[in-house]
Amino acid sequence: MNVHKLRRVPLVAKWPVTPYRNASTKAPRPSKPIPKSSKPVAIKRRQTIPPRQTHPARQNTQPETPNAETTAKKGHGIPPRALTFLGISALTISTYCGYLYASYTREVGKAQTLNVPRDVSDRYNTTAATFDADVELSEKAMGLGKKRQDLVRQARGHVLEVSCGTGRNLPYYELGERRGMDADGRAAVLGCRSVTFIDLSPQMVAIAKEKFEKLHPAAVVPAVFRACDAGAVEPADIARSGEPVHFDTVVQTMGLCSMPDPVATLRHLGSVTEPGGGRILLLEHGRSHYDWVNRILDNLAPAHADRHGCWWNRDIGEIVRESGLEIVEEKRWHLGTTWRYVLRPKGTEKSQS
Ligand SMILES: C[S@@+](CC[C@H](N)C(=O)[O-])C[C@H]1O[C@@H](n2cnc3c(N)ncnc32)[C@H](O)[C@@H]1O
Repeated sequence: MNVHKLRRVPLVAKWPVTPYRNASTKAPRPSKPIPKSSKPVAIKRRQTIPPRQTHPARQNTQPETPNAETTAKKGHGIPPRALTFLGISALTISTYCGYLYASYTREVGKAQTLNVPRDVSDRYNTTAATFDADVELSEKAMGLGKKRQDLVRQARGHVLEVSCGTGRNLPYYELGERRGMDADGRAAVLGCRSVTFIDLSPQMVAIAKEKFEKLHPAAVVPAVFRACDAGAVEPADIARSGEPVHFDTVVQTMGLCSMPDPVATLRHLGSVTEPGGGRILLLEHGRSHYDWVNRILDNLAPAHADRHGCWWNRDIGEIVRESGLEIVEEKRWHLGTTWRYVLRPKGTEKSQS
């Protein structure tokens, strides 16, 4: 026996011999041949990790489902494209909000320095030509067309519309009287017997008259257009021979915001309304149910009034109460900023029944 040869045998572990593979055995092939090395290779023993001890209280808190591992690997499940879209949208919205806030604070700063008179009604003489275009979009967005229609459809008999502006209510009047049922289901005469439209601004009335003539080329009922103050209108000034000294219906939409003394004007309108069963129909805008909206309205009111001739922060409910007219119906929309009233002269219900 050669002793020298025996001594040269390195004291290293040898990889296990690859088992013989044939078609029937599916044992995995070693991925790479092991390089021959003269250096001894240390064998690392795999550490056996003891199973984690679960606190008894936490045991069975999550139901074990066969898909638990798969679900965890999926993560949040939002596709990257959707995430990018959400990110860009969030950035755009926050930039826009920042821009709005900056414009708002700039406008508030400007508004506070303005010295705007209480009577801004003359602004309509210059804005008449663009009035319809200016309000069209916001009125559509707020569904005001339908609200105007629902109000004006109630007009009957001899009708006066004050602060008629450019005649945005004209398409909704039912011209000519007919027998029908009123809102309470009682037999009544509906429709308008005559219509009178007045506005302080001659430019506004001229546009309303032109619209009316296009809508009704042939006279259906007597129609009068006048530039005059709603707080001083007298039926006798307008009435032709044989016509009454009171109106059966007085209509006003978005007018209380524009006049210097809305309470006095409402009182006057009560005095020209038929005491037996006449109605005053209002659709107005003003203060909201919410303080945060009112703060915005208050902060921007002087600038808005100066530009558009309208004090949009008025408390319409307070004006109506102060006028002393009787409230038949009250409704509010758009965070409380749009107000609808059906009013009658005080104490007239008894004389009607
Ligand atoms: C905001 S606009 C509303 C116009 C129209 N009623 C509407 O709903 O579109 C207000 C209108 O009230 C008119 N106005 C202001 N003060 C008035 C007054 N004392 N008498 C009559 N009209 C007045 C203005 O000339 C203007 O046309």
